[in-house]
Amino acid sequence: MLSPQITVATLIPSQRHLFEIPDDVAFFNCAYISPLPKASVAAGERGLARKARPWTITPDDFFNASEAVRTHFAGLINAAPNDIAFAPAVSYGMAQAAANIVLERAQTIVTLAEQFPSNVYPWMALAERTGAQVIAVPRPGDDDWTAALLAAINTATGVVAVPHCHWTDGGLIDLESVGTACRRVGAVLCVDGTQSVGALPFDVMRIDPDYLAVASYKWLLGPYSFGFLYVAPRRQAGRPIEHNWISRRGSQDFAGLVNYQPEFQDGARRFDVGERSNFALMPVADASLKLIADWTVPRILGTLARRTEAIAARARAEFGINSVPSDRRAGHYLGLRFRGGVPVNLPAQLEAQHVHVSVRGTAMRVTPHLWTTNADVERLFTVLRAAVA
Ligand SMILES: Cc1ncc(COP(=O)(O)O)c(C=O)c1O
Repeated sequence: MLSPQITVATLIPSQRHLFEIPDDVAFFNCAYISPLPKASVAAGERGLARKARPWTITPDDFFNASEAVRTHFAGLINAAPNDIAFAPAVSYGMAQAAANIVLERAQTIVTLAEQFPSNVYPWMALAERTGAQVIAVPRPGDDDWTAALLAAINTATGVVAVPHCHWTDGGLIDLESVGTACRRVGAVLCVDGTQSVGALPFDVMRIDPDYLAVASYKWLLGPYSFGFLYVAPRRQAGRPIEHNWISRRGSQDFAGLVNYQPEFQDGARRFDVGERSNFALMPVADASLKLIADWTVPRILGTLARRTEAIAARARAEFGINSVPSDRRAGHYLGLRFRGGVPVNLPAQLEAQHVHVSVRGTAMRVTPHLWTTNADVERLFTVLRAAVA
């Protein structure tokens, strides 16, 4: 997936100095939880300290910081700030989507085999409510998820609920083609971007999803319990799953809050989680999103794709370990597939040497980021050699 436009000059040099990672820690586990950048930690400390001095918190503070973060996230996916709601978890975002989708008994909800549960359970619940059926597209032997998914979309499809890449091994889905197929049959497209947005370009103008939920604590380098829900303009008149004061029109006027207001704030704001003006975490998200905007997603992808490609090629050459072929894998994401499964002692051996990866299904996920150095990669291969040879 190393795009031809990405030249050596556009690669980003190591940014490890921006993180608090000890030299002897090789952290290949962004897909689990990213470390917070130092700037985000400092912003969070300042944010938390504000609550010790509540007399400094003004009514404007409930709005300004969240509107700035809404705008940063919108810019990342080529959306308008109006299209973004705050959703603390993917399960929350998908619950908002599922509550606004009408299905009939004969319809289906299409997912992928072994998909992350937060983008499966809400659909099982919707199926239970409506009598519709959840279908999981089986893992294709040739790793071509796009072809397998497109073959499963037909006139009975009511919802397609998928990620941009598979969380176990980075298997890539061409969401532009899937979006076109959904529009052809009138299906609602719900995307979980948690393992991709921030590292893999996502353009709502090209993909045109109905909903996109993203947790911030992985590839957005942001806080836990914090995330976003993109809601397409055509879906913004829906009913939110909870009703809070701040998402109602005129909520800036604190004195007038008991003049109960039937109208909502503009756009997707009606779907904002209650207490979204999170004084501790909002500044953290703001600092992390600014870093990503400075680096730019195409350069992040180019840099990580080169890194994962080198690791994949070496694992294949030295130990015969395979992974999803580069043209069917998201560039930032790698899953190593050991013949006969991941050796039982390998996770403990890696941990003993402070090499952090994760085992998901039959793949060992290796997800570096801009903090990764060549020395980290050597440390990984030293442990692999000892375990596999
Ligand atoms: C693909 C994917 N989606 C979502 C999540 C997190 O879900 P939630 O925000 O509902 O806890 C994870 C966490 O590992 C994930 O891998």
